[in-house]
Amino acid sequence: MNSTYHPVPILHLLKHQNLFSGIEIHVKIAEKYVLLNFAEDPYQDILNKLLKKSVEHVYLNEEDFMQILNAFNEHMISGQVSEGTFNDEIRANTADALFTMSREFIKTHGVSAELVGSMTEANNSIQTLIKKAENLTSFLKKFEKECSEEFLKITVTNFLAVAVINQFPWKSQQIIEKTILAGMFCDIMLEPKDFDQILSHETTGEELSLELMQHPLNAINLLTQKLDVIPQETLTIIEQHHEKPDGTGFPTGIDISRFNQLTAIFIVCQRFTDELFIHEFNSHKYMESIMNLRSNYRGIVFSNALEALVEVVSIDALKK
Ligand SMILES: [Fe+2]
Repeated sequence: MNSTYHPVPILHLLKHQNLFSGIEIHVKIAEKYVLLNFAEDPYQDILNKLLKKSVEHVYLNEEDFMQILNAFNEHMISGQVSEGTFNDEIRANTADALFTMSREFIKTHGVSAELVGSMTEANNSIQTLIKKAENLTSFLKKFEKECSEEFLKITVTNFLAVAVINQFPWKSQQIIEKTILAGMFCDIMLEPKDFDQILSHETTGEELSLELMQHPLNAINLLTQKLDVIPQETLTIIEQHHEKPDGTGFPTGIDISRFNQLTAIFIVCQRFTDELFIHEFNSHKYMESIMNLRSNYRGIVFSNALEALVEVVSIDALKK
């Protein structure tokens, strides 16, 4: 039979047994896929025995793998946006984009319930926070509606940023929330036409108007007017999200010494997301995009961020 099988880490199956109930699980023996039989020995015992024999992955057929992926994406999307503000077209596009990203991610890291859980929790906290502020929700809804493509990019950037943050020992729910908050508001003052100009500036160095160069500061002004307390990390990410370590970024043109690790992660994820959209999520272009980022974003905090991003998007050829 000519079927496609997808590897899934055994550790993940042990962690999230509910997700895999009713799914056929195979092992690979001499290039053949053999169905595991859980009728006699319990699921957990069989998988633990495999782990003891240094078997790290089991295999799911195409249909079962897609079912798991769909469930994953459904959770991811519902955790990302406020109810009723997401139209069908954006929902479909987001599902498509996240589906492509998460396929490789899941093969290496498993169907990360933690990732979905922390994004959902972060989204709930942020919704609670912005509901307290006058008109902030309507700013966000307007942005979702009028800049749907950019809203989709922010969703993907946040997904990647959370996955990358999770690679670091200092990860925490608070840090994830501060980062997602920055992602949601960093471009809030822009209109659809502005994004093309900014992208041309980022990719070809085309001149940018002073007004567009100021958009990170305008977003900060809006947030500080509407909210009493905003985490400093959030403000720093917003202020620096177009800065570059060689001093050619904007609005200020800071140098490498001013970047912290979290901001570097956000910037790298946002620029990589730009590349994903330019190349229509073609995974064969991941390597080229990472190489571009490596030459433009030098310095220890950016190298650390890029190394973790390489791990997240599973580019074996680039791992050290
Ligand atoms: Fe921006």
